[in-house]
Amino acid sequence: MKRLRSTPLKLSVILIAVFALFISAGLGMAYWLMHETLGADISLRAGQVIEDLRAIPEPEERIERAKEIVAASDPRALLLRLELDGETVASVRKLPEGVIDSDATGLPEPLADDYLVHHADLAPGVLTVAVGRDSMAELHETFIAILGFALLPALMLTSAIGIVVVRRTAARVEAIRDTLHAISQGTLDARVGGPHPDTDLGDISRDVDRMAEAQEAATGALRQIGADIAHDLKTPIQRVAVRLERLGDADLPDTARDLLEQAQNETAQIIATFQSLLQIAQLEGGQGRDSFAPVELGALVRDMAEIYETAAEDSGARLTCTVAGPLPVTGDRHLLSRLIANLLENALRHAPGTDIRLSLAGRTLSVTDGGPGIPEGQRDVVLRRLARLEASRSTPGSGLGLAMVKAIADLHGATLTLGDAQPGLAVTVTLPN
Ligand SMILES: Nc1ncnc2c1ncn2[C@@H]1O[C@H](COP(=O)(O)OP(=O)(O)OP(=O)(O)O)[C@@H](O)[C@H]1O
Ligand SMILES: [Mg+2]
Repeated sequence: MKRLRSTPLKLSVILIAVFALFISAGLGMAYWLMHETLGADISLRAGQVIEDLRAIPEPEERIERAKEIVAASDPRALLLRLELDGETVASVRKLPEGVIDSDATGLPEPLADDYLVHHADLAPGVLTVAVGRDSMAELHETFIAILGFALLPALMLTSAIGIVVVRRTAARVEAIRDTLHAISQGTLDARVGGPHPDTDLGDISRDVDRMAEAQEAATGALRQIGADIAHDLKTPIQRVAVRLERLGDADLPDTARDLLEQAQNETAQIIATFQSLLQIAQLEGGQGRDSFAPVELGALVRDMAEIYETAAEDSGARLTCTVAGPLPVTGDRHLLSRLIANLLENALRHAPGTDIRLSLAGRTLSVTDGGPGIPEGQRDVVLRRLARLEASRSTPGSGLGLAMVKAIADLHGATLTLGDAQPGLAVTVTLPN
C-alpha cells in the first residue's frame, strides 16, 4: 500500500501514460491523414474513369473504350459496367454495392473486400465504377502491426524500466523514512546506512546520516553535562547536609530548629535528585548489565506487594497482587525492585485512594490504578527526566521516577508502555524472551 503513495511510482505511471498518449495520438493522426489521402485517391480514380468515358461522345467508341478499360484493369482495383443502347460492357456479372461476394461475380479469384461505388449518367448510357479499397484495409493492417510491434513492446519496456527505478528509489525513500521515524522515536543510533549512490536521494541519505550523527553526539554531550553537573554538585551538597546535621547537635531555639529541619529535608531531596540523575545516566550508558543474575520475578513481585501493602492501606488505597506463576529472568534484582517500587509509589501518590493492581502474567508485569491517568499526548513526555504533569505540581517528587523506570526497562531489553486503564493509568513492562 505504501508503494501506491510513492512519488517515483506516480511519476513513472504519469510518464508512461503521457508517452502512450503521445505515441497513440501521433499514430492516430498519421492513420487519419493517410486514410483521407487514400480515400481521396480512390474517389479521384473513379472520377477519372467517368470523365474519360464522358469525354467520348460516340456511343460505339465509348463502348470500345469501356472494353479497353475492362481489359486493362485489375478487377481488384477497378470494376466497371456500362449499359448503352441495349449493350452492356461489364468487368463482372454483378457489380458490388460495397462488399462484394466473389461467387456472384463469375470470377475465379476473390475480389477486393470492399469497393467505392460511383454511378454516373453519361446520357446516353449508365456507368457504374467500383474502385477497390484494399489499400485502405492494408493501411489498417499496417497500423495494427505498428501498434503491436512497436508501441506495445516500447510500453512494456518503459514499464519494466519504471518498475525497477520505482523499486530502487522506493527502497531508499523507505530507508530514509524509517531512519527518521526511528530517530524521532528516540533511537538515536539509527542510520540509513549502505553506500550512498551519487543521486539526489543518495545526498539526502548522507545528510540524514550526518544529522543523526550530530544529534546523537549533541544528546550524548548534553547527558554528560547533566551527569557532570549532578556529580560536581553532589559532594558540596552532601557536605552541607553533614554540617546541618552537626548544627542539629547544637543548642538551638525552636524557630531555628524548624528552619534547620526544613533545610535538611531540602538538602536530602536535592541529594536524592542528584543521585537519581546520576544513576539514570549510568543505566543509559549500559552500566549495571555486568551484575545481571537469575532473578525469579514472580517472587519479587509478591515481595514488593507485601512491602507496599501497609503503605497502601494507610493511604486508603487497595493493593491487589496477582502472579500467574514463577518467571525466571536475567536481570538486576535491586533495579527490578526499584522499577516496581517507582510504579507503585506513583500509583499511591498520583492516584490516591483507588484500586491498585500489581500483576505478572506471562512475561508482562503491569501496574494499574484508578486515578486520573496520563493523557495520551503526555505519555512520552512523562518518561523524560524531571518531567511532571501540571496536575502533580503540588505533590512531592522530582519527576525522575518514570525516567528511572524507562532506563531500567531499557537496560533489561524490556518494552515499557503507558496505557489507559479506564479510568487510571496502566503501565506494562514486557520482558524479552
Ligand atoms: N499513576 C499515575 N497516575 C497519574 N499520573 C501519573 C502517574 N504516574 C506518573 N504520573 C505523572 O507523571 C509524572 C512523572 O512521574 P514520575 O514518577 O517520573 O515523577 P514523580 O512521581 O512526579 O516524582 P518522583 O521523581 O518522585 O517519582 C508525575 O509527576 C505525574 O504527573
Ligand atoms: Mg514517581
